Amino acid sequence: MENQKIHSKSIFVFDAFGTLFKTSEIDAELQNIAKDKTENLISIWRKKQLEYTWLRNQMNKYAPFSQVTKEALDYSMRVNGLKNPRIFDLLLPIYDSPNLIDGVREALDFFQEKTICILSNGTRSMLENGVQKTGIGNFINHIFSVDDIGIYKPRKEVYQMALDKLEVSKEEVLFFSSNQWDVSGASNFGLDSVWVNRNNEVKEGLPFGNVFEFQDLDEFRS
Ligand code: 2OP
Repeated sequence: MENQKIHSKSIFVFDAFGTLFKTSEIDAELQNIAKDKTENLISIWRKKQLEYTWLRNQMNKYAPFSQVTKEALDYSMRVNGLKNPRIFDLLLPIYDSPNLIDGVREALDFFQEKTICILSNGTRSMLENGVQKTGIGNFINHIFSVDDIGIYKPRKEVYQMALDKLEVSKEEVLFFSSNQWDVSGASNFGLDSVWVNRNNEVKEGLPFGNVFEFQDLDEFRS
């Protein structure tokens, strides 16, 4: 019954990084430079990137996600004792020109009768590049970037921005994210939310509202 209710919503709003787009890609050159530090480099980079957005929210010191992403990578390199500037060339494109997670295209194709939106902390150019490069433009009706208001998720103003731009009520929207902090933010704001738990993560000790958990988008649509 509940599942039927969420499937019948007309507007699907997706987080971008980790949900539609990849946040990690390791090639041979990176492995060669970072060696046994590679995994740690990427993991600290992502953790710090997110942490810096939340701290900047607290301090009212917005800077675009491209800058925050670079500053977090710079920190992760220093903490891992890595100096080779080539690492920036190899890793920043993950966000500047992102690639799709497996299965996303098929899911978006399946949801074609819905209004599909992206709501992301990413800059507009990151999101537009990703949509264009991966050829999913036909499926995406709107791209909403926090750049427009200078505040990051999970602040409620961001989820509200999507409703305001769409001129719809909370009840019409189903929000999707793989990031638990984002699912927590959206569901506390009052959006029914789908947690796409691809990595079988343990549920965080955060406040959650109405959340439906699926292993991936395939499971959601079956
Ligand atoms: C987003 O795309 C950063 O994953 C986060 O909003």
